[in-house]
Amino acid sequence: MVLVTLMALTPSPTNSCPSSEWAALMAFKAALKEPYSGFFHSWRGTNCCYHWHDITCDPTTRRVAGITLRGGEFTVTGHISPSICNLTHYLSSITISDWKGISGNIPPCITTLRSLQLVDLSGNLIHGQIPSDIGRLTQLTVLNLAANHISGRIPTSLVNLSNLMQLDLRNNAIQGPIPWDLGRLKRLNRALLSHNRLTGPIPRSVSDIYGLAELDLSLNRLSGSIPRSLGRMAVLDSLNLKYNNLTGRIPWRLLGSRMTHLDVSRNWLSGRIADAFGENSYFISLDLSRNNLMGRVPKSLVWATYIGYLDFSHNRLCGRLPRGLPINHLHPSAFDHNPCLCGKPLKPCSRL
Ligand SMILES: *[C@@H]1O[C@H](CO)[C@@H](O)[C@H](O)[C@H]1NC(C)=O
Ligand SMILES: *[C@@H]1O[C@H](CO)[C@@H](O)[C@H](O)[C@H]1NC(C)=O
Ligand SMILES: *[C@@H]1O[C@H](CO)[C@@H](O)[C@H](O)[C@H]1NC(C)=O
Repeated sequence: MVLVTLMALTPSPTNSCPSSEWAALMAFKAALKEPYSGFFHSWRGTNCCYHWHDITCDPTTRRVAGITLRGGEFTVTGHISPSICNLTHYLSSITISDWKGISGNIPPCITTLRSLQLVDLSGNLIHGQIPSDIGRLTQLTVLNLAANHISGRIPTSLVNLSNLMQLDLRNNAIQGPIPWDLGRLKRLNRALLSHNRLTGPIPRSVSDIYGLAELDLSLNRLSGSIPRSLGRMAVLDSLNLKYNNLTGRIPWRLLGSRMTHLDVSRNWLSGRIADAFGENSYFISLDLSRNNLMGRVPKSLVWATYIGYLDFSHNRLCGRLPRGLPINHLHPSAFDHNPCLCGKPLKPCSRL
């Protein structure tokens, strides 16, 4: 009797995972269909911490700490079983990415797994909405739901993910506005929301995120003007606002900032291009094409330290191209379709 009790209290010699976790993983596996049986080949026996591929366990507690299922050439169908929520608060990472055929929704109970630091469900056919109480996952540093069929709005609770560093929601069907207080995500480094159906303005609070290095809001339906404060962001290196419904001027500080990639093409931006280029300007790519920009090509462009790719085409720019522009390095069509612009790479304006 005493012996039995002792055995139950001390860790078993095989350090087996709890049977509840084994059952949860078996139910998870049963909800996925893979045509080339063998993927879950190593999931044998009842000790899910023992040589099960793609499962990592906490070495001291022998609880499941991570699921890392990255797809390859095969398509896996089925759905993500809510049984994963029976894994406990030791679970810190879930990657179920690039399986191309996994559908169904994100189990809402996922928000009870309070220790989750990484959730990557990208590259599937997941639909439905982001759980509205996603903000409960306060340990989350990476949330990647890119390339799925997710719809609905960005939950307002998202801004409570105070440890979030990477947010990738690209290539979904997410609608509605970007939360106005997105700037509360103080640790955010990359915010990628491209190719959705987002509407409304670019929240001004974004510029409060000191360490934000990459902001991609392209291919949405955002309107209003580009917040001037974006030009004051110290670390922002890449800003993509292509293909939205933005109006107003291009903030001059954006052009003299230390950004290396700036794309504001295919909007309704108007006004002049500010004469704000200088020695800080080091653009690997600068695309202002397909807007309503008017006036001259700024003279200061010649003072930029480097411009790799430049496109000012399809605007309403006028006058002569500034002398000394390193035009040999620029794409010959960089200034095309500006009705009254003239200079070296363009045919002379008969009107001048
Ligand atoms: C998950 O936990 C619930 C509640 O404890 C239980 O009813 C259910 O059978 C469990 N599912 C699996 C797959 O372990
Ligand atoms: C964010 O967290 C705070 C504090 O925990 C809570 O009061 C608030 O309701 C949360 N906001 C949302 C939108 O969930
Ligand atoms: C975008 O702006 C254009 C021109 O102002 C307007 O016709 C169009 O309806 C707008 N589209 C959306 C999705 O807001």
